[in-house]
Amino acid sequence: MIEKAVNGAPFITLEGGEGSGKSTQIKLLSDWLVTEGIEHICTREPGGAPGAEQIRNLVLTGDVDRWTPMTEVLLYTAARSDHVERVIVPTLKQGKWVLCDRFTDSSIAYQGAARGVGVEKVRALQQLVLGDLKPDLTLILDLPVGVGLSRAVSRETDKSEKTDKEDRFERMEVSLHEATRKVFLDIAERSPDRCVVVDADQSVEALQECLRQLIASRFSILGFSNG
Ligand code: TYD
Repeated sequence: MIEKAVNGAPFITLEGGEGSGKSTQIKLLSDWLVTEGIEHICTREPGGAPGAEQIRNLVLTGDVDRWTPMTEVLLYTAARSDHVERVIVPTLKQGKWVLCDRFTDSSIAYQGAARGVGVEKVRALQQLVLGDLKPDLTLILDLPVGVGLSRAVSRETDKSEKTDKEDRFERMEVSLHEATRKVFLDIAERSPDRCVVVDADQSVEALQECLRQLIASRFSILGFSNG
């Protein structure tokens, strides 16, 4: 079991469905933290550490049913364990903020609900592997599934970040995307101290402003004292 991070610094995760804009928003948040002089790293799941990136390649490519759902959740969780022990906890211990694109809630939503492993089983597995380690703040970028999927499809024309084969989950049936959205909203309801649902159906700039306000009010960053 991984020992709880000495939270000298905030651990913030962004969650949401396909096309919710997490990656763009994390980059902009990073620019802002740089201007605020706040030391941080941006990382992502699956991946974020060399071994975990290798697992990423296994889970995001190939046919939708390449892995059994249980194998899949174990692969995601194995990658996460590596990422947490080798990158996230050491970084927090150095007093640097960690911004992470997806974390445990994605496993609960995608493998637990969409892939049918069961939300409670996946939750229990996360607890077993990660112990008490939890994000201090989870921003759930919520938007209608149709809007997100059409954004994700148009993003395919700009393949600067993803390889053209990293689309196993975008190709899931729409009803399964609806199921993941519902689980993210349920998680937020269940963990109101940790999670905030943000309407992602707005401009990049407006959404970014909203996320900055939320982070600033939670962690009292200078210059944002209205929170
Ligand atoms: P990614 O390229 O990060 O896409 P996105 O921009 O949508 O975040 O791919 C991550 C995919 O992996 C995404 O479709 C959700 C899925 N995923 C899971 O199914 N379970 C998990 O635990 C994680 C972290 C991601």
